[in-house]
Amino acid sequence: MRTQVGIVGAGPAGLFLSHLLHLRGIDSVVLELRSREHVEKRVRAGVLEQGTVDLLTETGVGDRMAKEGLVHHGIELRFGGRGHRVPLSELAGGRAITIYGQQEVVKDLIAARLADGGRILFEAGAVGLDGIDSDTPAVRYRHRGRDEVLECDLVAGCDGFHGVCRDAVPQGVLTAYEREYPFAWLGILASVPPSTKELIYSHHERGFALHSMRSPTLSRFYLQVDPDESLDRWPAERIWSELQTRLAVADGSWSLAEGPIVEQGITAMRSFVVEPMQYGRLYLAGDAAHIVPATGAKGLNLAVADVRVLADALAGWYGDGDTGPLDAYSERCLRRVWRAQHFSWWMTSMLHRFAGGDPYQHKLQLAELRYAVTSKAAATTLAENYVGLVEV
Ligand code: APR
Ligand code: PHB
Repeated sequence: MRTQVGIVGAGPAGLFLSHLLHLRGIDSVVLELRSREHVEKRVRAGVLEQGTVDLLTETGVGDRMAKEGLVHHGIELRFGGRGHRVPLSELAGGRAITIYGQQEVVKDLIAARLADGGRILFEAGAVGLDGIDSDTPAVRYRHRGRDEVLECDLVAGCDGFHGVCRDAVPQGVLTAYEREYPFAWLGILASVPPSTKELIYSHHERGFALHSMRSPTLSRFYLQVDPDESLDRWPAERIWSELQTRLAVADGSWSLAEGPIVEQGITAMRSFVVEPMQYGRLYLAGDAAHIVPATGAKGLNLAVADVRVLADALAGWYGDGDTGPLDAYSERCLRRVWRAQHFSWWMTSMLHRFAGGDPYQHKLQLAELRYAVTSKAAATTLAENYVGLVEV
């Protein structure tokens, strides 16, 4: 098989890139290891920045998001047993966030690609790349029990953190920057109306908790747990009891409604960046190149921002042979990537309980949280990063 841009991975990065390229008349094929059902059901994050929402809308894949997405103009930081609202839109020039599950974005993008005659091969796992330092790169993959080859002009490695593309770059070319956190998140989806209109990020002595949502009848929660925690040790009663404790307010003026848990999972918390995000004819995008801890809700938004830069650069290259934007791809993306790395690390450090429960650090966190909700300058820093910066 042959195409112009060979895309590995049908997550938000790969699918949106394929869509953007189609709009510019550039052909691509997407290879995806898992089944369509699997990628459409995989529950991930759900906060879309204003810029992500605008881009999906402008490119014709925002209809269902406009109907079903929940637009939020603020978030709550809860600490010391009290809630404090950060008025995001007021502080960030009217920009807002939209709550819309990542798998819904994925469903919409798959539907749009297929309606436009796009080629997505599911259950087609890439096993290796050839010739990425030549003008004729190729992706080797396995599909329906057979070894196949996709020949292309360039490869977009959108295959997530555990993919194969990053490893195809020769040793010594990439530098990895990494931080592991001494905790993970246990996430649940519960069939119960949210007990709050806006997201609640709660700092608590027993660990961080987050109350999010997906719809007027579906709530999403996360609890900070040990990094090696197993779901077996978390029956529903324990999860609810811990959420009740960590989200409680001191004066009892708020209560948390419980309901049946319909999905649960544990997510590692990690910060990771490789530089540069390109080598020869291989361009890495999204989680394949960088990971952020979910506290800043940036993962999906960064993936979308990367492929927007890549699609523009490819349009220039195919259009008038301009190699400048493609050469500058990594540098352009990394500015936003590192801003988001810092924001995500900062939110994570401010809100979680660290091993040993160091009392000095606990006091510093409270001082920082108080500053974030009392100083307009500090709150604006949080707000403009959370809704997404326009220029980085
Ligand atoms: N061959 C083909 N596909 C692969 C391979 C492979 N060898 N390895 C992994 N994949 C697929 C995965 O099954 C997945 O569908 O690549 C896709 C990568 O998608 P994501 O992990 O969703 O990554 P990305 O598109 O970069 O999206 C960014 O935002 O909310 C965050 O981490 C979250 O997924 C999220 C990310
Ligand atoms: C989610 O709703 O899944 C979610 C919300 C905010 C975060 C992370 C995840 O920071």
